[in-house]
Amino acid sequence: MQRHGFLAYTPPVQGIPVGQQALAEGGDRPELADVGRLARRLVRQVVHIARAEEASVRRLLADYLGGQVGTLPVASGSWPRYDHVNVQAGLDAWLAEPGREHTVAGLTGFHHRVFGLADLIQPDSWQPGLGLGSVTTDSLPAGPGGVTLACVQCALYLVTDPEGPIVLLVRGPGEHNPAQGVTVESVAAGAGRAQRAIDDVRRLSIARNVFRGHVIEFGGEVFGYDGGALLGFQARPQVAREEVVLPSDVLDGIERQVLGVARHAGRLLASGQHLKRGVLLHGAPGTGKTHTIRYLLGQLSGVTVMLLSGRALRLIAEACSVARTLQPSVIVVEDVDLIAEQREYGEGEHPLLFQLLNEMDGLGEDLDITFLLTTNRADLLEPALAQRPGRVDHAALLPLPDADARLRLLHLYQGRLVLDLADPGAVISRTEGVTASFMKELLRRAALRAADEPGQEEASTPIRVTDAHLATALDQLLDTRNELTQVLLGGRPGSGPAHGARRAGQVLHEDGGYLAGLGDVGEVRGAADHPEPGAADG
Ligand SMILES: Nc1ncnc2c1ncn2[C@@H]1O[C@H](COP(=O)(O)OP(=O)(O)O)[C@@H](O)[C@H]1O
Ligand SMILES: [Mg+2]
Repeated sequence: MQRHGFLAYTPPVQGIPVGQQALAEGGDRPELADVGRLARRLVRQVVHIARAEEASVRRLLADYLGGQVGTLPVASGSWPRYDHVNVQAGLDAWLAEPGREHTVAGLTGFHHRVFGLADLIQPDSWQPGLGLGSVTTDSLPAGPGGVTLACVQCALYLVTDPEGPIVLLVRGPGEHNPAQGVTVESVAAGAGRAQRAIDDVRRLSIARNVFRGHVIEFGGEVFGYDGGALLGFQARPQVAREEVVLPSDVLDGIERQVLGVARHAGRLLASGQHLKRGVLLHGAPGTGKTHTIRYLLGQLSGVTVMLLSGRALRLIAEACSVARTLQPSVIVVEDVDLIAEQREYGEGEHPLLFQLLNEMDGLGEDLDITFLLTTNRADLLEPALAQRPGRVDHAALLPLPDADARLRLLHLYQGRLVLDLADPGAVISRTEGVTASFMKELLRRAALRAADEPGQEEASTPIRVTDAHLATALDQLLDTRNELTQVLLGGRPGSGPAHGARRAGQVLHEDGGYLAGLGDVGEVRGAADHPEPGAADG
């Protein structure tokens, strides 16, 4: 929060500041008997000053707009809380239009208060405590790389353009009542002029929408009721196609739905085909669902992306409304199984998943909006998807990597390591049933062991990984599995060797998905998070 832009409008308040006057009258050390008298006088002074300050707001408006200010029409517009930054961007653009000049007058004492421009211009409405002062702004994310925009919390814009004076009152979302959105009100002489200003700001807030074309991570609190703000902008991920190790028909199918439709949107629409699409990626943890989404988003430069997670899902409707305004757009909902049984607040308490599916259905077919959903637990979603068909046009199972894929992964994650393997087949056959992310972790551990060895400390030479390093790292990973299996899954039925090998990959799966969105999270998740992941495959 920062303060700036004080407008020097001196309210004609007579007298000395309250405290000083009290002291002057009562002397340096007031007698006890004087305290009551002083207190009464203080209250009178405070009220007097409050009235004077409040009167100064009205006087400012009357001076600016003319004597008949109380009879002028007031128009208003409101926006949801997350749009604060866009309203400011639109307003700034409107103010910057040729022929328009303005000054800003900050309002003080506006917290916790319900008032509008109509109240401020009425001669007989009393707004105690409201005064003129500094303009308080919130610095809100407005672009990737830490770009922010100073957004006004509560201020009067005194504007002049060729049509004459016009005043706008802007109020940001309440800090203490986050459910309250952003409002802009305007007052001016001239038929429809006040309303036109609101309409213009609305139009420009869409035209200048700072979310457009960016990857926006909507945190739990963006739309929420707990005072949070937009989590922010993410750099668009860049993952090359070669880095996505999947059977070619699987990747082709996903690409056709997501990238193909985007590429041919105009022609498809012209020939009466729908654009809106839902794609579900499912498979065991660590098979590349998040990775694939990162690849797709990298290919969709210029497309607005909304990453939804956690509590933000409660307000999927608002996210869809942003997606509609800013299409072409993509809405990513990772680990959608986590919301399968969660309930929204409010009427009916529908599971969030149904709400999501309903919202997907409610959007026009001709909108270029893609839903990308991921889950480790397709089995949990199946009943809901069967009850609400048509939302997901394409479901792709990302399989565990076969021997060929595991070899590719070995080379992909080799990086600048020197792989000095006499028998590459050994590690490939020992890793039957693990996930792609397991292969990545395996190489990292082997490299760590190699780097620890005498003779390999030289920082400038590449690390040389041998069969022995890989074998030991693999033993270690499988050991980890055994320990975790004992602790977390001990005595569970169906944990035979094949299952066990799978779990090894899952336990060490680097979860890049949930909450952290598409960020680089290297956290190791417990197997307990995915109690029966194998079920997702079948
Ligand atoms: N199919 C794959 N091809 C290449 N790398 C992969 C693949 N699957 C996973 N990885 C690697 O493992 C990491 C974790 O995988 P992730 O995509 O988060 O798994 P999921 O979302 O399916 O649980 C990725 O960031 C990537 O580095
Ligand atoms: Mg994931």
